Parts: sequence; structure tokens; C-alpha cells
Amino acid sequence: MPDVTLTTLQSLKQKGEKIVMLTSYDAIFARIACAAGVEVLLIGDSLGMVLQGHDSTLPVTIADIAYHTASVKRGNQGALILADLPFMAAATEERILANSTTLMQAGAHMVKAEGGGWLTPSVRLLAERGIPVCVHLGLTPQAVNIFGGYKVQGRHEAQAKKMLEDAQALEEAGAAMLLLECVPSELANRITQAVRIPVIGIGAGAGTDGQVLVLHDMLGLSLGSHTPKFVRNFMQDQHDIPAAIGAYVKAVKSGEFPAVEHGFNA
Ligand code: KIV
Ligand code: NA
Repeated sequence: MPDVTLTTLQSLKQKGEKIVMLTSYDAIFARIACAAGVEVLLIGDSLGMVLQGHDSTLPVTIADIAYHTASVKRGNQGALILADLPFMAAATEERILANSTTLMQAGAHMVKAEGGGWLTPSVRLLAERGIPVCVHLGLTPQAVNIFGGYKVQGRHEAQAKKMLEDAQALEEAGAAMLLLECVPSELANRITQAVRIPVIGIGAGAGTDGQVLVLHDMLGLSLGSHTPKFVRNFMQDQHDIPAAIGAYVKAVKSGEFPAVEHGFNA
């Protein structure tokens, strides 16, 4: 398989072929995901929860993400590497430029920032300097203390309209990709149709251009008792991890995952 680039992802969107993203934090899982056909490996700040055992993503540092990005890079075989900007790493233009440089030099091909329309100048700044940015909209877990919990976002029409406008402004500013977390499926469809850049969903229904899950979630591994509604355990019907990741890729590509019950209503 030739290396996955931004151009590959854009052409997958145009062809209507689903893009498969999965979180990855180390070399061996990166290698397994690549062999299974995962196109984008996300070094998510979810590592603060699944690897470090924190109860939120707030304690994760840029050094943590850089360390895991470098590990994933060593195991990667042709996937696009997307690295998360952790809590406050994108807070100002100066910080996002410095922190994105660190992640790109650790092996990322693109960085991801949680936010909204306020990120527009930062996205333009980075794009002009050669760093593609994916903007994470909807339920942005770094803002859990503003939301008052992990809640579906964009349920009210004013909020939905703002998210759609933000998506368009970010595309205009040069955003390479969007990620929608826990937004009503109908709103995710509207946003996906309104922009030309790829839109990846998690808890956003089947209408986005691709899907992402946290590795541990889709393997049925959890520190707590609560499993989010949008998760499917792909180990259930498989005998080993490579087969489970393979089943995830197949289910996303075929449109079998996510099913209606994994999504949210407005
Ligand atoms: O940190 C992460 O794993 C993420 C995904 C849930 C999208 O941002
Ligand atoms: Na994240």
C-alpha cells in the first residue's frame, strides 16, 4: 500500500470510501493497525486515561504525546500519523506553533487541536507554515469542566448552527480535516456535506467520511464500568487483536459500523 497522505484522504472522501482512523500509542499496535488497513493512526491524549490512568485528559503533556508519537512512527508502515495537541498546547498562536513543531519533529504528519471557530487564525498560521491541522469539534474532552461532564454537543439549533459555521470558517482558513465527537448524527451529516475536507466521526453517526475509536475501547478494555454508547467491542467475535482490528476496518469500510444505535439524536 502506498503511504497515506492528505491527498489520499481527500480522494477517499471524493470517492465516498470510508476513512479508518484508530488511536495508537506504541510501535507494535501501530504495526498491527497498519497491517489491518488502518489509514490514520491517532496519538490521542486519550492516553492520559487508557495508559496513564487519569480520570481526564487534562494532565497529558506535550512531552507525553511526543514520546508516543515517536514510538508509533517506529512501528508505522504507511499510515498517516496524527498527533493530539494536549490541554493548553493550542491555547495561543505562539504555543500552538511551538508545540506543533515538537510533534511534527517527533514524527507526526498532522496535528489535532480541540476547539472551534476561535482556532481559525492558528489553523491559518500553521497551514501557511506547512503544518496540516485537524480540528476536533463537538465534545472536546479538554473542555469537560466547561461542559459539566462528557455530554453530547450541538443538540440545540443555535449550537448546531455555530458548529456548522465554525467548520466552514476552519476549512476556509486551511484546516486539513475535521473530527466530530458526540454530536447528533443529523448535524454531523450536515457538516460533512458542507465542507470539502474529510470529516471523521466518533459518536457522530454513519454519515461522516470516516470513523475513529480509542484502541482500548474497541478491544473491550476499560478501567471503569462505563462504556460509551458509540463503542463496539470488536474482540467479541474475534480470536486475537489483529483480527479484531481487521474486523473494525472491514465494518467501517462496509458501512456496517457505526449502526444507528451507536449515534445520538438531536
Ligand atoms: O484522544 C483521542 O483518542 C481522541 C479521539 C477520541 C478522537 O481525540
Ligand atoms: Na484527544
